[in-house]
Amino acid sequence: MKSELHERFQEASQYDTMMKRLFAAYEQLPLIMLSHLRTRLPAEARVLDVGCGSGSALGAFAAHQPDWSFVGVDPSAAMVDVARAKLASAGASDRVSLVVGTVESLPGEEAFDAATAILVEHLLPDDGTKLRLLEGVCRRLVPGGCLLLASLRGDLGEAKTHSALEAWLEFIALQGLPPETQAMVRQRAIVEDSLVSEARILELLEHAGFAGMERIYQVHLLDALLASKAF
Ligand SMILES: C[S@@+](CC[C@H](N)C(=O)[O-])C[C@H]1O[C@@H](n2cnc3c(N)ncnc32)[C@H](O)[C@@H]1O
Repeated sequence: MKSELHERFQEASQYDTMMKRLFAAYEQLPLIMLSHLRTRLPAEARVLDVGCGSGSALGAFAAHQPDWSFVGVDPSAAMVDVARAKLASAGASDRVSLVVGTVESLPGEEAFDAATAILVEHLLPDDGTKLRLLEGVCRRLVPGGCLLLASLRGDLGEAKTHSALEAWLEFIALQGLPPETQAMVRQRAIVEDSLVSEARILELLEHAGFAGMERIYQVHLLDALLASKAF
């Protein structure tokens, strides 16, 4: 009989495969982020990955930065189990701690040099929940520390958001995924009150205590911003 972890692993490896097909440059995203972190962080940095999922970004960061250490936090125990096994098999367990929970529930008071949040923020409604996440991350950074935030972004009132969505759906078709996947993406991407415009996320970031926002990557509806905790 298959163990629960084995099943979770299968699900998670299907998750990784699906994410690579759904999002252009999903595999490169951690290294795009790391390229920016390497220009800013000290030789021995501490980095927090919020919504770490199956641990792909943490695995990539740890592989390239042997002198950095990491904390990953995610409310899904199943995802954290898979991340733990993945990081153990990559020999990175001693430098990566994983916590089941949210940034608000992280134990201790440690401040990190940087944080990443990949494909997490757009899942949260803009009813105070997004702001709480951003404030929670900001509280956990050293002054001047940076957040790399990669999320779906768009303004449903603007034609360019809809044309970016259509192009993304064509990309998904080109990846050989079935029409049902396109329908699922269309339905989940365009969620009023969780997909927010660039102007709104900039406002929320500023409100949460960040400054100096700059775009580091954009494709289809996926948008990655760098923001620094104001001194
Ligand atoms: C689409 S997955 C992305 C996972 C990973 N960052 C990646 O790039 O593959 C979204 C993750 O966000 C987590 N999540 C949902 N709400 C969260 C919250 N409030 N704080 C942190 N993570 C959250 C989910 O459990 C899930 O693992």
